[in-house]
Amino acid sequence: MYQIYPISFRDSNGDGKGDLPGIIEKIDYLNGSEHSLGINAVWICPFYRSPMADFGYDIEDFTDVDPIFGGMPNFEKLVEELHKRKIKIIIDFVGNHTSDRHKWFTESRSSLDNPKRDWYVWRDGVNGRPPNNWVSVFGGSAWELDTNTNQYYLHSFLKEQPDLNWRNEEVRVAMSGVVDFWVKKGVDGLRIDAFLHFVEDKLLREDPINVFYSKKGDDPYNALLHMHSVGDIRQSEPLTDFIIKTLDRHKDIAIVGEAYLDPKGIHKLQAVYSSDRFTIFNFNFINRKWSTVEYKKIIDEYLLNSPPNFLPNFVFGNHDVDRVATRIGEAEARIAAFLQFTLPGIPFIYYGEEIGMTNTKIPHDALKDIVAKIFSGYHGGRDPERTPMQWDDTPYAGFSTHKPWLPVNDNYKAVNVKHEQNDAESTFSFYKRIIALRNADEVLRHGEYIPISSNSSNVLSFERRLGDVRYFISMNFGTGIEQELLPTQTKKPQIIFSTTSRFSTVVSEQVLELLPFEGYVLKLEPEE
Ligand code: GLC
Repeated sequence: MYQIYPISFRDSNGDGKGDLPGIIEKIDYLNGSEHSLGINAVWICPFYRSPMADFGYDIEDFTDVDPIFGGMPNFEKLVEELHKRKIKIIIDFVGNHTSDRHKWFTESRSSLDNPKRDWYVWRDGVNGRPPNNWVSVFGGSAWELDTNTNQYYLHSFLKEQPDLNWRNEEVRVAMSGVVDFWVKKGVDGLRIDAFLHFVEDKLLREDPINVFYSKKGDDPYNALLHMHSVGDIRQSEPLTDFIIKTLDRHKDIAIVGEAYLDPKGIHKLQAVYSSDRFTIFNFNFINRKWSTVEYKKIIDEYLLNSPPNFLPNFVFGNHDVDRVATRIGEAEARIAAFLQFTLPGIPFIYYGEEIGMTNTKIPHDALKDIVAKIFSGYHGGRDPERTPMQWDDTPYAGFSTHKPWLPVNDNYKAVNVKHEQNDAESTFSFYKRIIALRNADEVLRHGEYIPISSNSSNVLSFERRLGDVRYFISMNFGTGIEQELLPTQTKKPQIIFSTTSRFSTVVSEQVLELLPFEGYVLKLEPEE
């Protein structure tokens, strides 16, 4: 699954902003030609009509394509072209909120007795203050006073993103209509934005103070424990019901929910649906130290003791977090990708990861993300990970002929698709090889995960098994040479894949030698 942030992928009409025809131009890059990456599905971030306060996550019309992205005919063409190459398409379902310019909100805010008043969460203030202490993910109170009717509305994110009231049946019916509209247009799945924010505590109970919060450098959002403002499974019933019905109505679509949860939390949530067409993003590697111990702990907790019909996934980056190569290092990021593609479940690639793109330093006057402005001083916003895709070494990296909406990373002359497609040792060539292997290999796709305790604290190893075929997968997280012990064998295992093109691999019946940041897939003898 390849995530495209459309405004940054490819600009076809020279306005400095990426668009859907730009994606169509680059379909060969994704799959279907000799130089393609080989991916099977794309998730395209919001392209709906939007005032762009939150770059498309503030939607003014759920069933229209914004003119900056090229309008509906281009969306239809995009689906057709993707499907011709057997690439599936997943789109965002941003159902927690609308833009404050959505006609539903304009109606809702117009009077206390407007038929759409209850479509949003409106409350009276208390002694001239907001109804309770809930805070917005993007800072400040989660309530905004609307002087027209003198009531407050809830916004879990920006004040330009009022929360819909999912307890209202009419809202759910309208949103089912939105889903049906896009399924009819041919989409294969939905990414549910802000999954845990849809339904809040009915009684609006105050969120308790987080006693572990330290003001220094911590996100102000963490000053409270979001027990009541963020939904748990029980209070999320209206959403759960909606999703179950959606999966039932559309037997060919899959759903991925955005929620930052630990493995146990993910299991609990996925168990509610028990469907191999439903998964919750596994973001557990994000914000985690580069350490075999930490990684193994997450993998084991996540993959073992999982609920029935569990559909796993592994994510290292997206449009909301620092790029993986910046967070953990460039050599480390390649091993992280090797891990991602050798584990079970869906690997998610954020555009540019496959060429090793890093965060871009954004000059103050070029900042676009409002989060950088609100949290100035401690959070640089999300622009650094959203800069234009680096296609080649021409001006603006082949993204556009015009100055792009965000600056191109200075490293584009070396880090770009064209250059890397012609270099067998590049990050791109590595991704292409591992994706090709994964696409062709049943064991990597469907084999069971068997944990293994490595003899070195720098090495992460595990087995994948399908029938009596056994793969031993091993990778070196560190900068030294390691000797990893293999399970008892009578002959030398066969090398299925190496992250480098090293021909001098030392492997015997007992031992695999791993150079710094090197990884292998070996085929073992069947177990007796
Ligand atoms: C999700 C999106 C993020 C957006 C927020 C509000 O977290 O990934 O980009 O700002 O929801 O819609």
